[in-house]
Amino acid sequence: MPDNLLKGKLGIITGALDENSIAWKTALKAKEQGARFVLTNAPIAMRMGAINDLAKECDTIVIPADATSTEDIEKLYAEAKEYLGGNFDFILHSIGMSPNIRKGRSYGDLNYDWAMKSYDVSAVSFHKMMQVAEQKDVMNEWGSIVGLSYIAAQQVFPFYTDMADAKALLESIARGYGYRFGKLKKVRVNTISQSPTKTTAGTGIGGFDSFYNFADALSPLGNASAEACAEYIVTMFSDYTRLVTMQNLFHDGGYSFTGVSEEIMEKFKDL
Ligand SMILES: NC(=O)c1ccc[n+]([C@@H]2O[C@H](COP(=O)([O-])OP(=O)(O)OC[C@H]3O[C@@H](n4cnc5c(N)ncnc54)[C@H](O)[C@@H]3O)[C@@H](O)[C@H]2O)c1
Repeated sequence: MPDNLLKGKLGIITGALDENSIAWKTALKAKEQGARFVLTNAPIAMRMGAINDLAKECDTIVIPADATSTEDIEKLYAEAKEYLGGNFDFILHSIGMSPNIRKGRSYGDLNYDWAMKSYDVSAVSFHKMMQVAEQKDVMNEWGSIVGLSYIAAQQVFPFYTDMADAKALLESIARGYGYRFGKLKKVRVNTISQSPTKTTAGTGIGGFDSFYNFADALSPLGNASAEACAEYIVTMFSDYTRLVTMQNLFHDGGYSFTGVSEEIMEKFKDL
């Protein structure tokens, strides 16, 4: 494994809820690779307390911020800049939530107020974080911004309901802001489309175990773990990926380009 890929880099990591979170693993990897960063999560997640243990381990602080509130984001950037002593080289958006999924509503029975909440929390917040970053001029040149997506943005996964639309919007925002931030400050913006992963957000989706196992059986390399995702995110924050921007990058063990696998065919042989 390389050393100090992120030496001297400063950033913001959202979304570490517990030790299963992709953001949690990313924080540990980023620290291991020499980065300094601030952790943030919604005030409600803070009450669970686990993030404070992570902050201790990473020798940093937690600044509460609801990612749907531009005032909270402004405060987050101002306090993080002061704490870190400079502008940011990276931002991780690792945020997703759908009240419709939580409450078991199907795609033909969406509560639209909740759907708007899903889009706001899971996608528009990505735009808000970048718009405030631009307006407050908090990104360093050649910085990197990453959001986390899922292949339901391109293919139908019936149980993913309004989150599929949220992810399509998230990926579109990465392209739109990637163009803008590239021209303005040489900042790159990408989404990473991750395998099903056993986290709070992941396992909250109906039928998760079945499609986790299905994806694992279809992918030639098997499902990508949260740790492996964290490693990929670190490379996207490093100077080795400076010309990659406006992409949706599949980190899924080959799932997205596999039609069928022998393992799956075997299960349908004698039907
Ligand atoms: N787990 C999977 O199967 C999977 C697969 C592909 C992509 N993703 C994406 O990865 C990202 C991280 O999710 P995870 O799987 O690590 O689960 P997680 O539940 O650990 O993380 C989701 C985070 O979003 C935070 N959050 C919710 N509302 C917020 C708000 N208003 N403001 C700020 N933060 C808020 C939560 O507190 C939590 O920390 C999400 O975008 C998710 O959709 C997950």
